[in-house]
Amino acid sequence: MNDETQPSDLSRRRFLLLLTHGGWVAAMGVLLYQVGRFLRAEGLPSGPSPVVVAGKLADFPPGSTTYVSEARAWVRHEAEAAGVLTAVDAVCPHMGCLVQPAGGSPGFQCPCHGSQFAADGALAGGPAERPLRPLAVRIVGGDTVTILT
Ligand code: FES
Repeated sequence: MNDETQPSDLSRRRFLLLLTHGGWVAAMGVLLYQVGRFLRAEGLPSGPSPVVVAGKLADFPPGSTTYVSEARAWVRHEAEAAGVLTAVDAVCPHMGCLVQPAGGSPGFQCPCHGSQFAADGALAGGPAERPLRPLAVRIVGGDTVTILT
């Protein structure tokens, strides 16, 4: 009776051993792949540059609110303060729609669910629970507007 069961036990044992070793090899492969990805991400810059050239200062006249698609940002040039530009991320913090200038006020409104934001991006009405993200604007060389996204 033992002679009849031994080959079956051996093949089951061998199968389980192969399964266990295969699992370890697969787990180590996944681990090495993830470590490689992590090290590569740490060592090299990733993605496009976070600095977007928005255009010339003349493209943003005082009192204007201009959409810069490359940065997905709204740039405001204060009417009262020539040369003072501010920018906010145009992505609504609620669910990611692009906000639009609010008609009749200097702020922004989301067309999807109606969140409202002040001109500086401050939250003025939900359902969004956070303000628009402010972005840094720099004027380089005296006439080129750049946005740090
Ligand atoms: S995505 Fe803007 S309010 Fe919902």
